[in-house]
Amino acid sequence: MSKVYVFDHPLIQHKVSMMRDKKTTTKDFRQLAQEVVTLMTFEATRDLPLKDVEIETPICKGTFKMLAGEDIAIVPILRAGLGFLDGVLSLVPNAKVGFVGLYRDPDTHEPVEYYCKLPEDIDKRKVFVVDPMLATGGSGADAVQLIKDKGAKDISFMCLIAAPEGIEAMQKAHPDVDIYIAAKDDHLNENAYIVPGLGDAGDRLYGTK
Ligand code: PRP
Ligand code: URA
Repeated sequence: MSKVYVFDHPLIQHKVSMMRDKKTTTKDFRQLAQEVVTLMTFEATRDLPLKDVEIETPICKGTFKMLAGEDIAIVPILRAGLGFLDGVLSLVPNAKVGFVGLYRDPDTHEPVEYYCKLPEDIDKRKVFVVDPMLATGGSGADAVQLIKDKGAKDISFMCLIAAPEGIEAMQKAHPDVDIYIAAKDDHLNENAYIVPGLGDAGDRLYGTK
């Protein structure tokens, strides 16, 4: 079974709480999303492999650690996942980027796919799928399946807030995909929104409501 990592660092918790506040403006919400995901990326990349390299400092030669160059791909789920992209890229600027477009049907809450464009060599990369919300888990699980269908084998899922239902659905569909979250919330309401959550992440990022 996959692991679920809850990042309870005080800075992450503080910023997510600010994002939850309905009085937080679109501009501040976007800024906070970047900051939180940058902190989460720092934690989520903790196990990236290192290699020894010879470097000459102004004082002497030595052997030091650098990233072994594991190739990474970031895949935001459109639209709200886009709000996470720059934050991840700020720490892993050489990552390639793919996109999966999904929206939830307002009546059935089932994900509907409308776009998928991934790096050609996705099968050779460590993939981080990013989306602020894991509610029913339908969108996240479908996105991961699309990426697996293109050959990817090493996939992690990173989101801000997850409902227990979403975690369970993702683990059931993809027991090999680790999940990184900033907060595990209580439950889903009758509209399949996360409670207490932060509302509609896409609308809050882009000011559409
Ligand atoms: C939101 C969110 C996730 C999805 C989560 O996207 O960004 O992709 O809902 O819900 P689920 O776990 O029940 O599938 P939404 O469908 O609102 O589309 P948007 O990003 O275009 O606003
Ligand atoms: N999508 C969102 O943006 N928010 C939720 O609470 C659930 C799905």
